[in-house]
Amino acid sequence: MNSADSTQASSHHRLRYNTDRSWVTCVLENFDLFLLDHAANERKASAVAMSMVAHYPDRTMLVVKMTDLALEELSHFRSVVHLIQARGLQLADDSKDQYVAALREHHRRGKEDYFMDRLLSAAVIEARGTERFACLAAALQDPDLARFYETLAHSEATHTEMFLNLAAQYFDLGDVSARWLFWLDREAEVLSQIPVLPRLH
Ligand SMILES: [Fe+2]
Ligand SMILES: [Fe+2]
Repeated sequence: MNSADSTQASSHHRLRYNTDRSWVTCVLENFDLFLLDHAANERKASAVAMSMVAHYPDRTMLVVKMTDLALEELSHFRSVVHLIQARGLQLADDSKDQYVAALREHHRRGKEDYFMDRLLSAAVIEARGTERFACLAAALQDPDLARFYETLAHSEATHTEMFLNLAAQYFDLGDVSARWLFWLDREAEVLSQIPVLPRLH
């Protein structure tokens, strides 16, 4: 097992809700719609990374990591746009991501608490991306598409680790571990209440 495999395994096995087979079926049956939502997710992931840079310009390590992340997510976006256009489709209007909005409600106020929660909620969102892309990669018939989603799963797994490492760099490890468990529980709760749709979440 290479390091990417072990990272992927460790990050999504911590999740406390497993994606149901019905989600995979729904996505495979509505793959065009799924791609449009997937593209929006990659675009937003890139934008969120740059909003971290704008919000915390004095945190040197964060600025470096978030700039790299923004570029990587933007390259994911570009790849998904290519897939969309190859199918003769166009990007769609933005629609609200219930999952992300529900998670955001659990961000604490207060500069430092809010910062820790942004890092940990980002880590859990990346872990879910890892899990769902891996589910799709295993189910897709098209070998190129399966390989693409496998690559993305590995990439999102490294993002989970990066956000957790940043939290450990800026905060006490015990506080981070305790709050990480909180986020795993909230994420499981939120996702299990969202109807099955051809969306990433
Ligand atoms: Fe991504
Ligand atoms: Fe990511």
